Amino acid sequence: MDRLNAEHRRILDRANASVAAGAERAASDPSRPIYHLTSPAYWINDPNGPVHHDGEYHLFFQHNPFASEWGNMCWGHVVSEDLVRWEHLPIALAPNPGSYDKDGAFSGCCVIHDGVPTILYTGVFPECQCIATSDDRLRSWTKHPANPVIPTPPRGDLEGFRDPFCWRDGESWYMALGSGIRGSGGCVLLYRSTDLREWVYLGPLLQGTTGVMECPNFFPLGDRWLLCVSPFAQVIYVTGDFSDHRFQPETEWLPMDLGRREDFYAPNSMLDSQGRRILWGWAQVGPPGACWRGALTLPRVLSLRDDRRLGIEPLPELARLRGRHERWEGVLLARDEPVVLPPELSETVEIRAEFELQGAREVGLVLGGSSGGRGQRTVAYDHEAGRLSVAERSGSFGLLPGEDHLQLRIFLDRSIVEIYANGRVALTAGLDHPGVEEGSPLREGDRRVTLFSRGGAARASTVDVWEMTSIWEAGSA
Ligand code: FRU
Repeated sequence: MDRLNAEHRRILDRANASVAAGAERAASDPSRPIYHLTSPAYWINDPNGPVHHDGEYHLFFQHNPFASEWGNMCWGHVVSEDLVRWEHLPIALAPNPGSYDKDGAFSGCCVIHDGVPTILYTGVFPECQCIATSDDRLRSWTKHPANPVIPTPPRGDLEGFRDPFCWRDGESWYMALGSGIRGSGGCVLLYRSTDLREWVYLGPLLQGTTGVMECPNFFPLGDRWLLCVSPFAQVIYVTGDFSDHRFQPETEWLPMDLGRREDFYAPNSMLDSQGRRILWGWAQVGPPGACWRGALTLPRVLSLRDDRRLGIEPLPELARLRGRHERWEGVLLARDEPVVLPPELSETVEIRAEFELQGAREVGLVLGGSSGGRGQRTVAYDHEAGRLSVAERSGSFGLLPGEDHLQLRIFLDRSIVEIYANGRVALTAGLDHPGVEEGSPLREGDRRVTLFSRGGAARASTVDVWEMTSIWEAGSA
């Protein structure tokens, strides 16, 4: 083993020991999610390099193994057989002092080239693109002697040169890189290679008016291509046509999630074994002072619907996490007369509610709050305004002509909530931001759910509540 990689192993040992030492404190924190991905301890940000290989799903994430704040960027690592239950593995990559990644191993992807699992990531600073390979089923990683494989940006007027996202087409690998043109706006750079080592710059894939476009994801969906970027603001996507290395957007930019940048950022995606496009984002949740911070959103299945809209749904197999169940049917909601349901299950639940709007202007659910408002959260659909909201976040969403039902799926996991509406909109919210009270609204002794209808009557045809169980395989919390 060369000197750099021998040193890398020693650095990883120290990082893993630090995380192990913090794990008990992190696990005992009552606001820590149990069915969202977190690290055993300390900070995480972007999901990185999801990949399916040899019967296993691997997912990595930006990780500080030493503190609950951003820094010392490493690649944390989890593995799963079904995308539902996960196990933590040792940290995959750490920065090597004095080398091309001395200031961090930033975001990237993982691909299988000629049978060899290969991570592509950004070394900093200055930003450059690097690779690492594994010969033991992705358990350990060797930084390549040819690093950095792309040492400098292709032109002098760029700000930001990071977060490789790669895909294969025939004999070629393509790479989309996040960047921006100084004084002009965000852009995504396109490269090509046959061996992941020698890269040729093909030009900008797209230029925009946003800030630097971090963490580009670019992939076919149905008969279109979708480009998703994180421009230091809400994550946005556009769909269009890709041919001759040119991307022609055909839609406006739309939000990938209606939450704020802090709630959903830097998503990353992969194809699963059934050819579904699965996406995870980073939610900056966790109370100040805790021994953990940050979670990944639930795996979401993206599709292009027949009406050309984006379909966004939680992975159906998440139903395996369901435990005890309660159900109500045909709940009539007279105007401005809320109905209290008494689910006593848990603070980690999935709630699925189907509403027929009848004359209602607004319908929704209040989570918790029997003690007079502390920690109470309202999930509301305002039909008149065309908005979906929770916990001071809201975004555009309206029933389409012909859609006579509103279906809300609410995944509440202590300090994070994700809401999916009619299979085509997602809204994520952290529940512990400064100024907002911490933790799950469904605390013990305060677990009621209140259905309401304003401005007219409505009917909740079904309301299901499931207790949700942990994603962690025994011994890996
Ligand atoms: C996005 C991001 C990426 C970068 C990483 C560093 O959140 O800024 O552009 O690679 O985080 O942790």
